[in-house]
Amino acid sequence: MSKVTVVGAGKYGSTTVQRIAEWDIVDEVVMTDIVDGLPQGLALDMNQSRPVLGYRTKVVGTNDYADTADSDVVVITAGLPRKPGMSRMDLLGVNAGIVRTVTEEIVKYSPNAVIVVVTNPLDQMTTLAAEVSGFPKNRVLGQAGMLDSARFAHFISEAADVDILSVTAVTLGSHGETMVPVPSLCAVGDTPLTEALDADTIDELVDRTRKGGAEIVAYLKTGSAYYAPSAAAASMVRAIIEDSNAEMPVCAWMEGQYGIDGVYLGVIAKLGRAGVNEIAEIGLTDSEQTALAEAAVAVAEKVTDLKEIDY
Ligand code: APR
Repeated sequence: MSKVTVVGAGKYGSTTVQRIAEWDIVDEVVMTDIVDGLPQGLALDMNQSRPVLGYRTKVVGTNDYADTADSDVVVITAGLPRKPGMSRMDLLGVNAGIVRTVTEEIVKYSPNAVIVVVTNPLDQMTTLAAEVSGFPKNRVLGQAGMLDSARFAHFISEAADVDILSVTAVTLGSHGETMVPVPSLCAVGDTPLTEALDADTIDELVDRTRKGGAEIVAYLKTGSAYYAPSAAAASMVRAIIEDSNAEMPVCAWMEGQYGIDGVYLGVIAKLGRAGVNEIAEIGLTDSEQTALAEAAVAVAEKVTDLKEIDY
């Protein structure tokens, strides 16, 4: 029996559960949250959509980690968004506390799981989950690159007025300022991006991608994006569950690839039942390689913040 748990039944978590369930790729998806009744109600509602859409995966809503036992994959979405008056360090402290507790429970009940972290700040939370779990680092990874690449692809398709499915877009590094777009690997059909769009337009799209989350938050006023984020996280779960070895941009532990060691960083990796099977070292231009190395330094600095707040 294959089983996936999603911790956090908020917007991101519940949409991730819905996508995985509707794909009908696992027997059971467990959704858990600290709010009593929330995962139970959402699960009941989702399960009633099964005869309409024609899938069998059962969703279990619970507040009890015992129900998550023996999961193959656990997605951590639990966390708080930044509230007015909260500093970046305050948020880091709150979410670090949540991710630590959640990870301890996961280890207790699903010692062989692959953990996919999506809670922000992503690099720190992925690093923390890896440290707290004590799992081999290939079994703990984070979601960021799939989302940034998808956003970049969307903006390219709009600007070039082409079929979204003809666009290849790649971003590495990390979320936000340290995102590393890789124009040399981006294309519209068979045409390199650098020939399809002028340099100024590409720069504008890169900037918009970097700020992609904030643009949506500004529209929504409360809450943040979850449709594209959950599509990204669910796709990672699918590759792991199906042991497909599919290549996708993820936040993975670096062990010398691109000359970078001992840090979680957004790179292209092959995913399967073991988590990260292999990090693909794709050919980068000198400036892209430099940007990736700088992103690694920036992430390593951010991780020291965790030590400052004693996590
Ligand atoms: N255990 C389980 N669930 C928890 C815990 C905990 N210790 N602490 C909080 N939660 C739950 C909340 O009750 C809430 O239902 O996490 C959920 C978070 O949901 P939302 O506030 O809707 O946030 P969401 O949009 O889903 O984003 C979750 O993903 O993209 C990141 O920055 C985002 O870190 C945030 C996370």
